[in-house]
Amino acid sequence: MDAKLYHPVKIGNVELKGNLFLAPVAGYSDAAFRSVCIENGACFTYTEMVSAEALVRKNLKTEILMRRAYNEKAYSVQIFGGEPDIMTDATHIVLEKTGCEVIDINCGCPVPKIIKTGAGSALTRDPDRLYKIAEAVVKAAGGRPEEGGVPVTVKIRSGWESKQMTWREAAQAALDAGVSAITIHPRTRAQGYEGHSDWGIMKGLVELVREWESREPGRHVPVFGSGDLFKPEDAKAMLEETGADAVMFARGAMGNPFIFRDATDLLTKGSYEPLPPEERVKTGFAELERLVAETSEQHACLEMRKRFAAYSKGISGGAALRARIVHAATVQDYKDIFL
Ligand SMILES: Cc1cc2nc3c(=O)[nH]c(=O)nc-3n(C[C@H](O)[C@H](O)[C@H](O)COP(=O)(O)O)c2cc1C
Repeated sequence: MDAKLYHPVKIGNVELKGNLFLAPVAGYSDAAFRSVCIENGACFTYTEMVSAEALVRKNLKTEILMRRAYNEKAYSVQIFGGEPDIMTDATHIVLEKTGCEVIDINCGCPVPKIIKTGAGSALTRDPDRLYKIAEAVVKAAGGRPEEGGVPVTVKIRSGWESKQMTWREAAQAALDAGVSAITIHPRTRAQGYEGHSDWGIMKGLVELVREWESREPGRHVPVFGSGDLFKPEDAKAMLEETGADAVMFARGAMGNPFIFRDATDLLTKGSYEPLPPEERVKTGFAELERLVAETSEQHACLEMRKRFAAYSKGISGGAALRARIVHAATVQDYKDIFL
């Protein structure tokens, strides 16, 4: 057991009690899910990526994506875009509408439609553009935190493909532009979500940033790690092996917000006791209720099918329940299945 592995983190002037975060995950990390993750110990949360273009076009659906959860004292809205001017306007809109504590710039999305616009992982391979965008967002957010601005962070990949590993250049551009933290998901754009993330690169980024800090007195830019955290032990191993300041659960938290509780216990007490399945399902209902309130019963019930399938893991007769979940269309349907 190493209690020091769990510790507070500062992003600019935002103080967080611990270093277990929920990653941005499109289609999952809505306010309902983020709220149950926080109830289970997540120390910081990100919205899914929000299109800067859509914000500027005043798309209402996009605004729903960035709403603060009821228990989110501090959270980050993640935006994506390839044009500094649009990212500037989007930053103003995000801050005005949400008052979020941190703005994160997506530099990792591998989807072709997004890369085509110069956004997402196209930014990890184009450090000049990344610099211009990060600089524009920092300026729009009121300057660096020491100048009174809202902290701006980036989330990068390791590179475009195995022959084009650009994380060093991308990180340097972000540091030069004045970001307050860097997250790395050390897979290339070409890897998508396949294969293993390369924690050696994560360690390399921690070293690069510490080296940069030694030349920049007074600056501290924490490094956050994402990639292959599927159980509490993985978070412990990532913290130990890479020296990352915080780690983010992504797929490992889907339908399993309890991973935060278990990982916190593992890091602070040396062991954990998984919740019984019946307790887990109760959390599923809390999430469903909040998602209905945020969106609509129809949307929430469709969305919760995959999540309830995960919540029901380990329940006796789970397979039969899951066969019914795929048809659940109302809150009553879920109650009939589980209660
Ligand atoms: C379905 C899905 C959606 C994702 N959406 C986002 C996103 O909106 N923004 C982002 O920065 N990363 C996104 N990611 C990447 C995750 O945040 C994370 O970095 C990645 O899944 C690696 O972590 P894991 O191997 O523990 O899942 C997404 C990943 C998945 C699987």
